[in-house]
Amino acid sequence: MAKRQLELIARKEKRGRSVKKTAPKLVKKAALKPVVRLTATDLATRQREISVSEFFTKNRHLLGFDSPAKALLTTVKEAVDNALDACEEAGILPDLVIEIKEISETRYRVAVQDNGPGIVKAQIPKIFGQLLYGSKFHTLRQARGQQGIGISAAGMYGQLTTGKPIKIASHTGSKKPGHEYEIQIDTKRNQPVIVSERELDGKEPEPDKEKRAVPRVFEHGTRVELEIEATYKKGRHSVDGYIEQTAMANPHASVMYVAPDGERHEYPRVAKELPKPPLEIKPHPHGVELGILLKMLHETKARNVVSFLHGEFSRVSGPVAEEIAKSAGLAVSMSPQKAAREQAESLYKAIQATKLMAPQSNVLSPIGEELLIEGLKKQVTADFYAGTSRSPAVYRGNPFLVEAALAYGGGSLPGDELCTMIRFANRVPLLYQQSACAITKSVIQTTWKNYGIQQSRSALPLAPMVLMVHIASVWVPFTSESKEAVASYPEIMKEIKLALQDVGRKLGLYIRRGLREADAEKKRSYIEKYIPHIGIALQEILGIDDKRKEKVCATLKDTLERSRKND
Ligand SMILES: Nc1ncnc2c1ncn2[C@@H]1O[C@H](COP(=O)(O)OP(=O)(O)OP(=O)(O)O)[C@@H](O)[C@H]1O
Ligand SMILES: [Mg+2]
Repeated sequence: MAKRQLELIARKEKRGRSVKKTAPKLVKKAALKPVVRLTATDLATRQREISVSEFFTKNRHLLGFDSPAKALLTTVKEAVDNALDACEEAGILPDLVIEIKEISETRYRVAVQDNGPGIVKAQIPKIFGQLLYGSKFHTLRQARGQQGIGISAAGMYGQLTTGKPIKIASHTGSKKPGHEYEIQIDTKRNQPVIVSERELDGKEPEPDKEKRAVPRVFEHGTRVELEIEATYKKGRHSVDGYIEQTAMANPHASVMYVAPDGERHEYPRVAKELPKPPLEIKPHPHGVELGILLKMLHETKARNVVSFLHGEFSRVSGPVAEEIAKSAGLAVSMSPQKAAREQAESLYKAIQATKLMAPQSNVLSPIGEELLIEGLKKQVTADFYAGTSRSPAVYRGNPFLVEAALAYGGGSLPGDELCTMIRFANRVPLLYQQSACAITKSVIQTTWKNYGIQQSRSALPLAPMVLMVHIASVWVPFTSESKEAVASYPEIMKEIKLALQDVGRKLGLYIRRGLREADAEKKRSYIEKYIPHIGIALQEILGIDDKRKEKVCATLKDTLERSRKND
């Protein structure tokens, strides 16, 4: 080794040693520095209320705004969910127009227009400029929206990323003027800020009217427009996929979608009637937790504990309410507002110990086996379709029901890949968090081998198959506010598995029949191959001429052909 190289190595080693030597000194020095410790008073100066909008601005991933591609989908989804909910609540067959315009590669303008009942003027600012404001949170009824956060969160995201306000135009009836608002959120106070407002009489000039897919003026309904930072991608997890699946689960809606590339997609109405309107119910006593019971006791207007139980809950008749109060050791005339924690606890225990009728099951609005299959047929070309719609069950006192459908075989589905899953909750497609969802877990835990389908351990079945599962409930338990995955309640998973087993059995029958047919065909082709040899053998044994031999062969072939047709 050259002398210079040796010198360099020695110098490096020396430097390394010196670092090691000096390092503990540095640590010691730092440890000697006095650490500034805060007192409770110091902390108190920093402690203050956090507004819900401030919280969700920092945690926008909880609402489904964690990537620009997802933000576009979530924005469209929130507006479309609301539009469909509003139309159905008003008994109107929905006509939806969804337009997405590219402003730049990372900026899009989304507009969703419905023919619903519209929104009264005074409510517009709060609905669009205040998080946790809505009409569905306090009700137990099957609806797409639940939390009162969806559309205002989309507005807040737009404001945060582009600085532009959300624009709303709404008409409540043909004879009344409409209203147009531009709204922002004061995130510190979670309050709306009105940027502009004007009355609409339907005669206002529309600058780009000719270029529009659909005229902006409507008799009744709402149009929501907002500009957001986003990216547009095609594919199953995209807005395109969401809209296609929405049309599939809502055959009573007509949807017109103008994609960012200008392409128009029209999904005409398949069912001419609205689905059975879902009914609102009161909570079932067996699903209520102690803390909630205590809150309900203090907030009720009922004069005594019996009328409280009878009036605030479902499935509690007057005599049953009395029985509960007595077994809880409470006077039937006791004022609920005065109930102490101990009394609420004994009431809670008495409720749990009392046998009650299960919650009403006729409050849900399923898609139905026939329309499920029809929807699937519109999207997927396959050899075999099956569907099932189960009767309602209950989790935590909430009625819910599960429906499933599948499409199998046919050239368009890949045979060497895991099956494709389409998940719905209250008719809304769930495109993200597939592996966290109770639906996926139930599919994985179903033994598909029983139905002639390949499946590895802890995996989705491997088959040319599209599986569709819909859960409808008065309250869908989502794993987060972004409503992307259903929580794994054992009662829900059990029902999903039963629905899957039902369609699985139908598929198994089809596959086995196919296998039987294939086996018979194989045997037939063997026989066919040997018929000429049988003819020769017969000719040799019986000494018949060629003509008779040909006749025997023809008869055998004919019999074989007939057996094929009869099968
Ligand atoms: N297009 C619309 N037509 C009529 N009413 C609407 C429309 N959009 C929203 N609303 C009203 O505004 C409320 C708030 O909507 P928002 O999306 O914020 O919450 P939500 O739909 O109740 O629940 P979620 O947060 O689960 O979506 C709704 O409950 C509904 O009463
Ligand atoms: Mg909503």
